[in-house]
Amino acid sequence: MKVLLIGDGARENALAYALEKSPNNYRIYAMSSYINPGINSIVKRSNGEYFVGDINSSDTIENIIRKVNPDLGVIGPEEPLFHGVADVFRKEGIPVFGASRKCAKIEESKAWARELMWKYSIPGRLRYRTFYTIEEAAKFILEYGGSVAIKPAGQAGGKGVKVVADLEAYLTQDKREALMKSVKDIGNLYNKEGEPKIIIEEKVDGPEYTLHVLSDGKTTIPLPLAQDYKNAYQDGIGPETGGMGSISGPHNLLPFINEEEYNITYDIVKATIEAIYKEVRESYVGVIAGQMMLTELWGPTVIEYYSRFGDPEASAIIPRINSDFGEIIELTATGHLNKGKIEVNERASVVKAVAPLGYPISRQMASGHRISIDLDKMRENGCIVFFGSISMEGMQLITKGSRALEIVAIGELEEASEKVDKCINYVSADTKLVYRSDIGKNINYQIEKAEIVRYSYMNRQRKGILGVSADWSPNGGLW
Ligand SMILES: Nc1ncnc2c1ncn2[C@@H]1O[C@H](COP(=O)(O)OP(=O)(O)O)[C@@H](O)[C@H]1O
Ligand SMILES: [Mg+2]
Repeated sequence: MKVLLIGDGARENALAYALEKSPNNYRIYAMSSYINPGINSIVKRSNGEYFVGDINSSDTIENIIRKVNPDLGVIGPEEPLFHGVADVFRKEGIPVFGASRKCAKIEESKAWARELMWKYSIPGRLRYRTFYTIEEAAKFILEYGGSVAIKPAGQAGGKGVKVVADLEAYLTQDKREALMKSVKDIGNLYNKEGEPKIIIEEKVDGPEYTLHVLSDGKTTIPLPLAQDYKNAYQDGIGPETGGMGSISGPHNLLPFINEEEYNITYDIVKATIEAIYKEVRESYVGVIAGQMMLTELWGPTVIEYYSRFGDPEASAIIPRINSDFGEIIELTATGHLNKGKIEVNERASVVKAVAPLGYPISRQMASGHRISIDLDKMRENGCIVFFGSISMEGMQLITKGSRALEIVAIGELEEASEKVDKCINYVSADTKLVYRSDIGKNINYQIEKAEIVRYSYMNRQRKGILGVSADWSPNGGLW
């Protein structure tokens, strides 16, 4: 069976790894914007073929589909989904693991996602306002005076969210100017005719986690929880990145999220899949994720949705699935997920991204370096390696400016974290490499934080006021 995989990062390497591991002998073809060495080895071993081109171009993908004539499509990243690449596969009559353009709007437009949650009364929704101009948004922030999260209303390459706490204390003249500058910057990130530019939400606080759910349009299967470590540096400081690592487990949970919270989160994502169907009249096929926060307001609360696997969350989850995940992908795409069963390794996993110095501030500084990796030694030490932003140029491996590798180990969290650190010794480059050694460690801190939040939201639950904000006024007020 021929599979055409679209995408170029570590997440797609993890998907290719699952397909290769399947006893179904998938022949793997790939289409990326550069040659990812990890995907390339899998393509070669399975006698497939590698194509390089624009993964967001429906025309290019259509040509490749006609050339390869695949039996199955698998789409990794969100951008091709936003451009309707899954629809191209379906138009050609090929089952595909990937949301249609209309369904992927749940991720593409944060404004649409919030509107949907309110329209269908999905729990875990936050109050929000959308704005078409920077001036209106700025006026709202100043009048409201409370804590808010300011975001581009639609996807703008993942970055740009600004969380502003305690606004009144914030508003000295200098800070006010700085705030207005960020509103302007955020407002300029997303420009789509007829759509709002900025969304402002009430600010919440608590530990974050992600639940991925597979959906074939009829059946859904939830995957183990994962947590993404977004900040560039140790202990959660520094600029936000695409994710410097992630953890998953043990079992289906994380040490700071309990089973009931897992089930509530699953219900939220299922309700979202149903609401999407009611709105766009298309079944959700592929994977959808709730990027969640455990808050005092609601307990499980939606921060945003993904219409694909999170990266690096996928690298933490996929290697923990003991059942044939390649086949599960196929069953999802073909509408037979009711035949699928997922068995998960009960131990935890830790993923660390390794990036060249400069990431995420200066892509240029992080690009163009030679990197070498002793894969055998890493495997001997119990790690799995997924290639990210590295391209194969002849026999050389060259960094492309983002997270170069994701290294995964399975075990107890602390033990797995140390295992990964050891494996990182087998990576070298002609520049400094950075990674976070704290991933999977100090988990007690998060457990304590969750306990405090849990105490408050359960109190609200008892009083029947989940989701009700203190300054809520149904017929007026600023929100
Ligand atoms: N309403 C909110 N309250 C508090 N923090 C938030 C809120 N919305 C987002 N954040 C923080 O900002 C981060 C990025 O926001 P998100 O909506 O996930 O945008 P993106 O990942 O597209 O940049 C979140 O992971 C969370 O830490
Ligand atoms: Mg996010």
